[in-house]
Amino acid sequence: DTFTATQYNTSDPTSFAHTSARARWPTIITQGIDDVHRSTHDFQDEETIREGKWIVAELARLKYELQHDRELTPITDDGERDVEAYNKELAARGNPKWHSVPWLYAECYLYRRISSVFKQTKKWRSYDVFARQKMSTFKSSRPAVIELAARYRDIVTELESQHTVKGAETQEQLEEAEKVLFTEMCEICLWGNATDLSLLTNLSYEDIQKLQGSQARKDSEKNILVNDLGRAFQVLTAAQKEGKKERRVDIVLDNAGFELFVDLILAGYLIASGLATTVVLHPKSIPWFVSDVLPADFIALLSALAAPQNFYGAQSDEDKKAGKETTPLSETEDSNLQFLFQNWSQMHAEGQLMLRPNDFWTAAGSYWRLPKAERDLCEDLKESELVIFKGDLNYRKLTADAAWPATTPFTDAIGPMGPASGIRVLALRTCKADVVVGLPEGQDERLKAMEGGSEENGARKWAWSGKWAVVQFSDGKA
Ligand code: F6P
Ligand code: MG
Repeated sequence: DTFTATQYNTSDPTSFAHTSARARWPTIITQGIDDVHRSTHDFQDEETIREGKWIVAELARLKYELQHDRELTPITDDGERDVEAYNKELAARGNPKWHSVPWLYAECYLYRRISSVFKQTKKWRSYDVFARQKMSTFKSSRPAVIELAARYRDIVTELESQHTVKGAETQEQLEEAEKVLFTEMCEICLWGNATDLSLLTNLSYEDIQKLQGSQARKDSEKNILVNDLGRAFQVLTAAQKEGKKERRVDIVLDNAGFELFVDLILAGYLIASGLATTVVLHPKSIPWFVSDVLPADFIALLSALAAPQNFYGAQSDEDKKAGKETTPLSETEDSNLQFLFQNWSQMHAEGQLMLRPNDFWTAAGSYWRLPKAERDLCEDLKESELVIFKGDLNYRKLTADAAWPATTPFTDAIGPMGPASGIRVLALRTCKADVVVGLPEGQDERLKAMEGGSEENGARKWAWSGKWAVVQFSDGKA
């Protein structure tokens, strides 16, 4: 990680790290305890129940240690190869305490530690403590999912049958239309990130729905503080014009549910339009930052779309309990969602759309370490025309989660992932943490001066809520 700037720390009252460690993390652990408790009730088998109780006790212990500012303890060996690296780093950091530890390391440690509790059991080894929450927010995204499904079907059908975009007659018009669509798809994909579950501790479902509609997206364009989409479009069309046969785009995924849905919308568009021939998706390998995508979430999403009436149109047990009515999907809505299922499963089956997990994505370090520590992964990413990093945590990892001046060029702040890396980086990020770079002179100050933008202590509060975004590009191949 960087030595040029200091990493954010949970001891710093001006950083979102401070509230995170004290208010958000305990809530997240409590939600985990509730979830396991609930699942334990559904099981009959004695061993599963006994292990379930042990998990609850271990999670309660972790919460106690966190709230009482105890030391972070070595992670128990659960048979996975990354435990050693976590523990070595912990020792090298001098066994820090929860309330005064670099934010990035501590938050990754938190999720790795939770995962190790499950991995030490027999029956719960592959249990995802956040799965229930992920699926239920995807359910509540119904209006936006339906709207986007119709739009996607229209675009893709036209592209596949006519090899054009509706209304475009000349080659120039087609290119212009493709650029507009590319921008729209990327922006949908960007704002899909505004709704992650680890922040849900203070957002209602209604708030989420408002964030997802198309009018909301248009209104939000002015909230993209830096927008390098044009440069990303240029590199993709250049590769296409060159007649390169294999043109790969990678997406380092962030959240499951609605965000994964919009990632697939973008991936499908890239393939259907010929801007890419393959899209490689990089999910996480353990339950991560509450809502991040695991391979099982990809399958769950496709299954939901395979039988959309069961998923969206039928009343769930929870709805019944809450006395909530469910309107069945119309025939068109049902058929549009099934179209997505068929379209994406076909791309998956034909190898145009693939999933490639790697445990580097759940390591504690920043991506400054990637070129040296993970040579194979790095070589693999160099093969890609464009690597899209989704979301806030990926951005924090790219920039080493350090307190850079806001005007630091993006290409400097990502260090070894920058111009010399051989990797083309595009970050699509709604701001949910302190770090932000590449802003024009004076912008940070203006945002801080807005209502709620800061506090007397100088905190960069405007950057915590997901209201503002940055889309930043670095051409590692130029
Ligand atoms: O800032 C809140 C937070 O939970 C961070 O801990 C984390 O970086 C981020 O949000 C997760 O958001 P995303 O899902 O966009 O990476
Ligand atoms: Mg996330």
